[in-house]
Amino acid sequence: MYTPEKERELIEKTKKLLKISIEDIKNKEEAEKIAQELREVIRYHDWRYYVLANPVISDYEYDKLFHLLKDIEKKWPELITPDSPTQRVASGLTKEFPEVRHLAPMLSLDNSYNEEDLRDFDRRVKELTGLSHVEYAVEPKFDGAGISLVYEDNVFIRGATRGDGIVGEDITPNLKTIKTIPLTADFKRFGIKTIEIRGEVLMNKEVFKKLNEERLEEGLPPFANPRNAAAGSLRLQNPKEVAKRKLEAFVYQITYAVDEKGENLLGSKIRYHYDAIKMLYSLGFRTPIPEKEIKLCKDIDEVINYCKEWEEKRDSYPYEIDGMVIKVNDISLYSKLGMTSHHPRWAIAYKFRAKQATTRIIDVVFQVGRTGAVTPVAKLEPVEIGGVTVSSVSLINEDFIREKDIRIGDMVLVERAGDVIPYIVKVIKEARTGKEKPIVFPKNCPSCGSPLVKLPGEAVWRCVNANCPAQVIERIAYFASKDAMDIRGLGLNTVKKFYKLGFLKRIPDIYRLPYEKIKQLEGWGEKSVENLRKAIEESKNRPIHRLITGLSIRYVGKVTARTLAEHIKCVEDLKDWSVEDLEKLPDIGYVVAHSIYDFFHNEENVKMIYELKELGVRTCKEEKAEENVLQGKTFVFTGTLSCCSRDVAQEIVEALGGKTTNSVSKKTDFLVVGENPGSKLKKAQNLGIRIIDEKEFLEMIKNHIPDILKDKIKI
Ligand code: IVH
Repeated sequence: MYTPEKERELIEKTKKLLKISIEDIKNKEEAEKIAQELREVIRYHDWRYYVLANPVISDYEYDKLFHLLKDIEKKWPELITPDSPTQRVASGLTKEFPEVRHLAPMLSLDNSYNEEDLRDFDRRVKELTGLSHVEYAVEPKFDGAGISLVYEDNVFIRGATRGDGIVGEDITPNLKTIKTIPLTADFKRFGIKTIEIRGEVLMNKEVFKKLNEERLEEGLPPFANPRNAAAGSLRLQNPKEVAKRKLEAFVYQITYAVDEKGENLLGSKIRYHYDAIKMLYSLGFRTPIPEKEIKLCKDIDEVINYCKEWEEKRDSYPYEIDGMVIKVNDISLYSKLGMTSHHPRWAIAYKFRAKQATTRIIDVVFQVGRTGAVTPVAKLEPVEIGGVTVSSVSLINEDFIREKDIRIGDMVLVERAGDVIPYIVKVIKEARTGKEKPIVFPKNCPSCGSPLVKLPGEAVWRCVNANCPAQVIERIAYFASKDAMDIRGLGLNTVKKFYKLGFLKRIPDIYRLPYEKIKQLEGWGEKSVENLRKAIEESKNRPIHRLITGLSIRYVGKVTARTLAEHIKCVEDLKDWSVEDLEKLPDIGYVVAHSIYDFFHNEENVKMIYELKELGVRTCKEEKAEENVLQGKTFVFTGTLSCCSRDVAQEIVEALGGKTTNSVSKKTDFLVVGENPGSKLKKAQNLGIRIIDEKEFLEMIKNHIPDILKDKIKI
C-alpha cells in the first residue's frame, strides 16, 4: 500500500505532528491542514498496526496523534469528515438496522468434500469454457459473518449483513468500529468510482475464548463458536459495545465495480481474481495474504495439494476456517460460466472435516461448583468430534435448556469449535419419538439439600449454603490447585477423601492435616505423605496473589487477584477497603468491587485469613528488595525453560518488580524463548519485540533472586 519513500515521508510527518499541541494552532486554516495530515498518518499507523501487526510508533505516540485530531475536531467541529479516524467509534445508538439492497446478490457457494468432487468441478469448468487449461486462485474459507462493503469516490459509505442475499441490514456504524476496514481507500487510482466488496467478520479464537469465559462468569450463555460471537456482536445496538469485541474483517471478493461512466470493470480492467486481491491488500484491506494465504494454482492437482496443506494447519490458524474456496482466476470467464440461483459456477468450497456431530443425551446430572452455581451437565452417547471423544456437555443453565427445549433422550447436534469446550448447537426435533423426558431442575442442592436460589438478574441457580459439602470440597481443591496455591498431591479426589474422613472441613485444615493418620490409609506410604507435607509447607510462602485467587471470591480470577495484590501490602488489609476504593483499581467495575467488598465483610472469611496467617501462610508481600531491577518491564514466556518451571520464572520477575502476561502485545518488553517455542515467537517478531533466550534471562536476574525462590531454580 505504501512505497518505502511514502513510508519515510509519513514517519517524518509523524515526528513533526508529535511536536504540535492544540495551543500552537493559530487559526482554522492551519487546523484544517494539520487535521488532514493527522488523518493521513493515523491511517498509515492503523495499517502498520492492524494489517501488518508491525507498528512503527508507540501506543503513547499514537494516542497523542489521535487526541490532537480529536481536540481540533472539538474546537472546529465543521472540520470533522465522515472518514476521519475519530469517527470509528460512533457514539450514538443505532435503534434498528435499516434494510439495504446489495449492488450484486450475495450468493452462496457450492460445496465439495473430496478430491473427486474437485476434479468434477474442474471438468465442468473446462466443458463450459471450452478451455483445456484453467488457472485457479485458492484461499481459506473464513467461518464468520458475511458482509458487503460499498465504497464510493474512495469513501466507505455502507456496509451490510447478508440478509436474504438480495436485501441485507445496514450495519455501517458497527462496521466503522472495525479497524481492518479502511474508512477511505484510493480506488480512484484504479479508475474505480463505486465498488462493492464481500468479506467476512471474524473473531480471533483467543478473543472468543476470553469473551465466553467472561460471559459465563456473568451468568450469560456463551456463544457456540466464533462465528456466532462475530454475528451476534455485529448486531449489537451500541457501536461502542461492538468496538470492545475486537472484531476483524477479511475481504475476499469484488462483486461490483464501475468507473466514472458507470462502465463495469469486472472481467476487463479488473481481470484476475488474484490481482484483485493484491489490489485490495495494497489498499490496506485485510485479505487472504498474497502468496501466504491465497495461492495461484496452475491445475487441479495443485489445488488439491494446497487444500490438503491447509487442512493440516487449520487448528493452528488463529481464526476459524471451515474449508478452502477455489475460484476461477480469470474473471472474464465468470459470465460464460454463469450461476445457479444459489451459487456461481466459477467457484466451489472444499469443506474440511466437520467440527460437529450428532449424538444422544442419555442423562442429565447437576454439578455444584465452588461458588455454589448449579450446572446441568448432559451425559452423551460418546461421539468423536475432530479427533476427540466427547461424552458429556454442559447445558449451562436453566434458560439455555428452556430456550433450546432440550430433553433427556434427545438427539442433539454438538460442536467443538477450536479447542473450546463442547456445546449443544441444537436439538434434532425431527428425531423425537415421544419418549423424551423433560429435564427437571432440582429445587434443592444435590449435595446438601438446601433450597436453591436464583438472584434477580441472574440465570444461574445457586446453593447459598457456604458449608455445602460439594462447594467446600470444590473450594478446598481450588485453593490447592495449580492456578492458586499449587499444592501438588492435593487434587479433587484426595480432598473428597480427606473431607469424608473429617480431616479437611475448611481451607485452614490443609495446614493441620493429621499426617500420622494419613500414613495408615490405603494407598498412602511414608514417601507420599512426606511429599504432600513438603508441598503443603512450600505453599505457605507463595506470593499473595495466589492466596487471593485461592479464596474463590466471585469474579476474582487470576488476573484480578494480581491487580489486587499489586495495590495492597497484606491480604487482610482488604477488609478496610470500600467499594469506591476498589472501583478505582484498573479493570475492577462495580460488580466485582461489590463481590470483593462482601467477601471481606464476612466475619468467617476474615477469620479464615487470620487463621491462615497464624498457621504460617504468607498473607503479606515480602518487603521488596531494594533493587526492583525489572520495575516496569513486562515479560512473556514461550517454550520450556530448563532452569525452572514457568511459574517460578514468573514469580521471580514479579518479585523483582516486573510484570508477566500470557500473550504478546505491543506492551511486551521481553519475550523469553525456551525450548520448542510456540506461536508467540512469530507474533513477537512481527511486533518487533525484544526476544531473549534463557541464558540472557538468567543473566538479568541471577544476582537478585529472592531467597525463598533460590532452591527452585537451577543456574
Ligand atoms: S467467495 C459469489 N470466498 O462462505 C461467491 N466466500 O458457504 C462469493 N466465505 O457465502 C463468495 N470465505 O460468506 C468466498 N474466501 C472466501 C470465503 C467465502 C468465506 C463465505 C461466504 C459465502 C459462504 C458460502
